[in-house]
Amino acid sequence: MSSVNSSRPPQAEVAAEVAAFIEHAQRLASQILGVPADTPLRPIHKVGVIGAGTMGSGITMNFLNVGVPVVLLEMKQDALDRGLATIRRNYENSMKKGKLTADEVEARMALIQPSLDHEPLRQVDLVIEAVFEDMSVKEKVFKALDEVVPPGAILASNTSYLDIDRIAGFTKRPQDVLGLHFFSPAHVMRLLEVVRGAKTAPDVLATSMALAKTIGKVAVVSGVCDGFIGNRMLARYGAAAQGLIHAGALPQQVDAALQAFGMAMGPFRMGDLAGLDIGWATRKRRAAEAGVPMRPIVADLLCEAGRFGQKTGAGWYRYEPGSREPLPDPVTEQLIADYRAAHGITPRAVSDEEVVQRCIYALVNEGARILEEGIAARASDIDLVYLYGYGFPKHRGGPMFYADTVGLAEVLRCLERFAAEPGADPSWQPAPLLRRLVSQGRGFHR
Ligand SMILES: NC(=O)c1ccc[n+]([C@@H]2O[C@H](COP(=O)([O-])OP(=O)(O)OC[C@H]3O[C@@H](n4cnc5c(N)ncnc54)[C@H](O)[C@@H]3O)[C@@H](O)[C@H]2O)c1
Repeated sequence: MSSVNSSRPPQAEVAAEVAAFIEHAQRLASQILGVPADTPLRPIHKVGVIGAGTMGSGITMNFLNVGVPVVLLEMKQDALDRGLATIRRNYENSMKKGKLTADEVEARMALIQPSLDHEPLRQVDLVIEAVFEDMSVKEKVFKALDEVVPPGAILASNTSYLDIDRIAGFTKRPQDVLGLHFFSPAHVMRLLEVVRGAKTAPDVLATSMALAKTIGKVAVVSGVCDGFIGNRMLARYGAAAQGLIHAGALPQQVDAALQAFGMAMGPFRMGDLAGLDIGWATRKRRAAEAGVPMRPIVADLLCEAGRFGQKTGAGWYRYEPGSREPLPDPVTEQLIADYRAAHGITPRAVSDEEVVQRCIYALVNEGARILEEGIAARASDIDLVYLYGYGFPKHRGGPMFYADTVGLAEVLRCLERFAAEPGADPSWQPAPLLRRLVSQGRGFHR
C-alpha cells in the first residue's frame, strides 16, 4: 500500500518485531483485569456439550484430544449420529495423515458419552452450549441446565452474537455463566473468545482461561456486546466490502485485493464458506429489534434467491458439484447491476488500494470503539482475535498493530474522507479514541 511508510526497516527486522509483539500480546492476554493470577481454579474432569452440529462436534474434539470425557447431548438420534460420524471422520482423516493411530482414534471416541437426555449432565463440571443461534432456544436450554447441572459447574454458551447477560439471567446462578466462543472449525481454529458477563465470577474466568491453554487455544477476554470483539468488527469489515460492491467493485476484485494484502480469505469467499444465511438472519433480527423495515443489500438479495454459498452450490460465486473453487458468476454480477440501477448508482472504478483501506480501516475504527468501551482490555487483545480467529496476516501483526505501522494520522485522514462522502454510513465517523491518539502523537501500542 502506498500509504505505508516508505523508509521501512528491512524485512527480517520487521518480522522479528512482529513475532516479539505477538508473543508479548499472548502473555498480556492471560492477565484478566480484576482477577488475581493466583485465583483458585475450579476442577474440570468432565465436560458436557449441548448440540452435536458444526460447532458442538468440533468443540467436543478439543476435550477428547486432551483426555477429558465429554457428555454429548442432542435432541434426536439422527443428529447425534451425524455429530459422532463427523468426529470419527475428522479423526480418521488425521489417521490417514499419520497423525493418529487406529487405537488412538478409538480411545478418543470412547471418551464420548452420547446422550438424548439430561441425566448424565449431573456429573459434569462444565457445559458448553452450541445449539441454534436463537434466544428462545438458548433460554430453554439454560433453564433445563440449571435444573440438572451440579452446583459450582460452569455454564458456557458458544453464541456468536447473543447477550450473555440475558442468557445468564435464565439461570439462578449467573455467576457461573460466561461465553466460550469457539471459531469454526472448532477443533482447528486457535482463537477462543472468553466472554465475561456482568456477573461472571473471577474463578469462572480464571478456570476458563486455564482450560483454554490446556486445549491449546489462544484465549482473549471480551466484554458483552453484539458480536463481541471479533464479529462486531467483522460486521464493519463486511459492510465496507459490501459498500465497495455497491459502488462499482466485483466480489472477485475485493477478495483478490484483500488476499494480496495477506488475508487468508477474502470476505466474499469467506461468506460463501460460512453460509450467507447467517448474516441474513442477523440483519433481519436487527431490523426487527430496531422496529425498522429491512432494506435489503446485495447479500440479502442473494439469499432471497436461495444462494447461501457453498452449501447451496452458489452464493457470491458459483461452485461446480463437489468443488470448493469459487468461480465468478454472471448471475451475481447481474444481481449487483440490478441493485445499482434500482438505487441510482453509477458504478465507478475502485482501486485495490481503496479496497484495502476501506476494509482494514473499518476494522481499526471499530476496534478503537471496542477499546474505548472497555469491551477489549487492550489493543493487543484485538490483534490476537484477528490473527487467530479471522485469518489476518501474521506478518502485519493484527489490525491495530498494522494501523500503528501505517500511522494513525493517515488512518484518521482516510476515515474522515470516507465519512465526508455524500450518504456515507455514520460508522465511518472516526472513533473519538483514534482522534485523541492522533492529537497526542501516539499509536494504539506506543
Ligand atoms: N457455525 C459457525 O461458524 C459458528 C461459529 C461460532 C459460533 N457459532 C455458534 O454456535 C452455535 C451452534 O452453531 P452451529 O453452526 O454448530 O449450529 P448447527 O445447526 O450446526 O448445530 C446446532 C445443533 O444443536 C442441536 N440442538 C438444537 N436445540 C437443541 C437442544 N435443545 N438440545 C440439544 N441439542 C439441540 C441441533 O439438533 C443441531 O444439531 C450457535 O449459537 C452459533 O451462533 C457458530
